[in-house]
Amino acid sequence: IGGAVVLGAGGLGVYYAAAKRDTVGTIDFGRALAIPPLAESTTSAAGARVFALGIQAGETAFKEGQATRTWGVNGSYLGPTIRARRGERVELAVHNGLDRETSLHWHGMHLPAAMDGGPHQPVAPGATWEPRWTIDQPAATLWYHPHVHGATADHTYRGLTGLFIIDDSADDSADDSADDRTDDRAQGLPSTYGVDDIPMIVQDRAFDRDNQFTERIPLAGSLGVIGDEILVNGTLGPYVDVTTRLVRLRLLNGSNARLYNFGFSDDRKFSLTATDGGLLAQPWETDRLHLSPGERAEIVVAFEPGASVELRSYPSPEYGGASGRLDGFEDRLDICQFRAAATLSDDAELPAVLADAPDLAGAAVAAERSFSLAADKINGRSMAMDRIDFGVREGTVEVWEVVNDNGYVHNFHVHDVQFQVLTVDGEAPPPHLGGWKDTVLLVPDRRYRLAMRFTDHTDPNVPYMFHCHVLQHEDDGMMGQFVVLGEGERVGTVQPHHAHP
Ligand code: C2O
Ligand code: CU
Repeated sequence: IGGAVVLGAGGLGVYYAAAKRDTVGTIDFGRALAIPPLAESTTSAAGARVFALGIQAGETAFKEGQATRTWGVNGSYLGPTIRARRGERVELAVHNGLDRETSLHWHGMHLPAAMDGGPHQPVAPGATWEPRWTIDQPAATLWYHPHVHGATADHTYRGLTGLFIIDDSADDSADDSADDRTDDRAQGLPSTYGVDDIPMIVQDRAFDRDNQFTERIPLAGSLGVIGDEILVNGTLGPYVDVTTRLVRLRLLNGSNARLYNFGFSDDRKFSLTATDGGLLAQPWETDRLHLSPGERAEIVVAFEPGASVELRSYPSPEYGGASGRLDGFEDRLDICQFRAAATLSDDAELPAVLADAPDLAGAAVAAERSFSLAADKINGRSMAMDRIDFGVREGTVEVWEVVNDNGYVHNFHVHDVQFQVLTVDGEAPPPHLGGWKDTVLLVPDRRYRLAMRFTDHTDPNVPYMFHCHVLQHEDDGMMGQFVVLGEGERVGTVQPHHAHP
């Protein structure tokens, strides 16, 4: 579309050049948006919530003609939405029905490293992996995806992605058990799943002539595939029938590399209510919102009876600019159409105050570290499965200063914690970076100071990851490993049985 397809040199095939793409007006929005089902659960004798997840290969009909070969969890594409409450014990049985090793990582979750589903917890074909932990963080929209080293981009692109929603008493979605109801401020947000609380997993895909996802093109330093068609929850050209005045959208940038600058076709304002790690202190009204791969946002949009409006991605003057260095922010894309009914029910309201603001700005800092991202490396080092880069101390706050040093698209994600963006180039962060985050876009050359508190030590031999969430960059080595140490503990050694073959 829009002349974006260029023949690659040397007959490698087709790749996507930096030309601008524009799909506005070309999408007919003929399919109702699919809503991922809520994962079914049972309760164990000990009271844990038990989920069964089956990773499988299948076929999915995204468009007319031939079906697309895809992967999914309990289905052919994407996976169910897992939902659990703060304080609840969860047990997952992850069965790998593929012909190769893969994994599932719980992105944004605070949990023991051995349960994290990263490169050190691969699941062999035919095997079942059973991670278990107690949910110990505020209400948030988290997600899951594979994380086997070197194949994360490929496995995620084929369709292994789902949401993991955490409820707690600070959020409207909580049930009425009085014991842990400590904060009612956010009561009132739209919260009927799939009706006025709508998950939106936004992904770009490139289809070939036979409707198959194109393989990645191995161009050094590239972003991997940037698709020109946008799926939301696996639906191409989706529409949503709106029945309430206020609608909450839980947006996940589930793309491997593409950046979105979300906005509506009439430039209407909407309210940002939550970011990666949960609710903001108060709603922030805006007409545009940037999300890089792996980031989430919850927004609340008000609709008028009978009106129709499109969610789009717009060029970003702030990030793309004349340099064009951040490819993907130059595009104008139609994503989803919202069609409001002639009469709308009006039960929800937007609270003025949502949660406590992050509180790490004044904390005593135990250590400062700096991270420079460039050329598929962090601080000049490429990911090595058997190298633990450093250990942090349980119970301490650290400040990590992160910079994108080569001008390509990078962001930065840290496992196990949510961080507070203290400053960007010495200035207070913009409002959309004011809440808890686990992934942050790195605009070239700007210095991001991130504060994070490490609360629970785990096995000093099993590391957590930090990395760029452009998945091809992560696979190519832009990743490192750390452990959270208890008192007197030292950085351990990655056990051979954890190593990827
Ligand atoms: Cu979304 Cu290390 O992952
Ligand atoms: Cu990167």
